[in-house]
Amino acid sequence: MRAIRIDRFGGIDTLRVDEVPEVEPGDGEVLIRAIATSINPVDDKTREGAIGEGTPPLPMTLGWDLAGVVIDGGASGLRTGQRVIAMSHQLGTGRGTWADSVALPADSVAPAPASVSLVEAATLPLPGLTALQTLDWLAVSAGKRLLIAGAAGAVGGLALQIARARGARVDALVSREVHLDFVRDHGAEFATTDPTTLADRGYDAVFDTFGAFVTDAVADGGRYASIATQAGPVPDLSARNVRTTVNQVREDGAGLRELTRYVDQGAVTLRVDSTFWIHRMRAAHERFAQGGLKGKVAVAF
Ligand SMILES: NC(=O)c1ccc[n+]([C@@H]2O[C@H](COP(=O)([O-])OP(=O)(O)OC[C@H]3O[C@@H](n4cnc5c(N)ncnc54)[C@H](OP(=O)(O)O)[C@@H]3O)[C@@H](O)[C@H]2O)c1
Repeated sequence: MRAIRIDRFGGIDTLRVDEVPEVEPGDGEVLIRAIATSINPVDDKTREGAIGEGTPPLPMTLGWDLAGVVIDGGASGLRTGQRVIAMSHQLGTGRGTWADSVALPADSVAPAPASVSLVEAATLPLPGLTALQTLDWLAVSAGKRLLIAGAAGAVGGLALQIARARGARVDALVSREVHLDFVRDHGAEFATTDPTTLADRGYDAVFDTFGAFVTDAVADGGRYASIATQAGPVPDLSARNVRTTVNQVREDGAGLRELTRYVDQGAVTLRVDSTFWIHRMRAAHERFAQGGLKGKVAVAF
C-alpha cells in the first residue's frame, strides 16, 4: 500500500510516496481504508524537524486527519464499510494517516457525518477536536462572551461555529479584511483585523489560535487558552485571577461523535479550499504554504 513518508527533515521535496507493507490491526483497533485526509500546520512543522524532542523516529508516515471506510471494526461495534472519521496523534504514536490503510484505537474513531462527503469530513478531526476541547477548557456556554484570535483559520472557524451553537456571544480577530465577511456570516458580533481595539472588552474567555497574546482583552477572573504551542506559554495572569493554558489536542472518539452531530445538524459547515489526489501531495503542500486559505487543503486517495 502507499504511504506518504519522509526519511529526512526538510522542505516539501522530502515528501515521498512509498510502498509499505499492509498494516494489521492490533487488539482494540479498527482498520480503516483511507478515502481522504487533510494537511495541518503540525504536519509541516514535523516534516521540517521543528518539533524537536518527542518527534517520532525516521522514516515516518505523516498525517493526523482521516476519513474513510471500515475494513475491520474488531470489537468496536463499527461495521465493515461504515464511513468513519478519526484523528491519530501522529507525534505521540508515530502512526500517520497519510496511507491507504490505517489501524487506530477504536476510541479514536467515530462515525462520519452523513451530510457531507468524506473529503469534507477529512477536514474535521484535528481542527474540530482542538476547537471542542479548548472551548470545553474555556467553559464556553450560553451567554458567555468569547474572543477568538484567528477566527477565520481552520481551528478558529470551527470554534466560532461551535461556540455560537452553544449560545455564546463571539467576537473575532482575523488576519485580513477578506476574512471579515466569513466570521460575520458565521455569527461573530464584532470582527476586526486590529488587536488594539480589543483591550478592556472584558471577555469571559479568549481562544488564541496563533499566539496573539491579547491578554488585555480578558476580564479579571476569566480564562485564556492558546493552542499556538510554538509561540510559548501565555503570560502569567494569576494576579488578575485569570487561568491560562496552552492546550494540546488529544485523541477523543466521544468528541468526534459530538462534532459529527454539529455537522449533521447544520450548526457547523466544513470549508474545503482545494482538493488534491494523494500522488499530488507536494502540490497540495504548495497550496497550503501560500496561506490566506479559505478552508482546508484536502487530499483524496
Ligand atoms: N496545541 C494543539 O493541540 C494544536 C492543535 C491544532 C493546531 N494547533 C496550532 O494552532 C495554530 C492554528 O492552527 P490552524 O490549523 O487553525 O491554522 P490556520 O488554518 O493556518 O489558522 C491560523 C489562522 O490565524 C491567522 N493568523 C495568523 N497570524 C495572524 C495575525 N497576526 N493576526 C490575525 N490572524 C492571524 C491566519 O490567517 P492567514 O492564513 O490569513 O495568515 C489563519 O486564519 C497552528 O500553529 C497549529 O500548529 C495546535
